[in-house]
Amino acid sequence: MKTNVLMVCLGNICRSPLAEGLLANKVNSEKINVDSAGTSDYHINHSPDKRSIAVAKDHKLDISHQKGRQFVVEDFDRFDYIYVMDNSNYENVVKLARTEEDQRKVELILNKIFPKENVDVPDPYYGGDQGFKNVYDMLDEATTIIAKEIS
Ligand code: 4NP
Repeated sequence: MKTNVLMVCLGNICRSPLAEGLLANKVNSEKINVDSAGTSDYHINHSPDKRSIAVAKDHKLDISHQKGRQFVVEDFDRFDYIYVMDNSNYENVVKLARTEEDQRKVELILNKIFPKENVDVPDPYYGGDQGFKNVYDMLDEATTIIAKEIS
């Protein structure tokens, strides 16, 4: 049985596609499946934001094939770990949890770097390219820790 990991943000076009691509690149795809979703329906079937595609490409990572989708309650059945990018995503996902077991799967991704501090990955959507570089660096560090833990 594969381990299934889901990355979640608001739009599924900026932060969670980077988190998905970074983690997928660090694990054995025969053992670990990585996906991403947004809590909103704003960008269903859209490609990642061009600034996320660009910062990934600067690091030789191709995320251009990904397509946006919305988080659904069945994701609690399909995924073992659900990493959310910020506290607002956390609230929105946990609201849909049916059981304590569902809720236990949900964790703020930066708690991997800063345990229990509940730090957000800042939403880079309305900012400039530097915001995307910062997000990439944070997610690179967090996904290295996750990859070590689950591999
Ligand atoms: P993401 O960023 O949650 O990291 O994908 C956003 C993308 C789009 C919007 C907000 C945040 N939006 O409002 O359309």
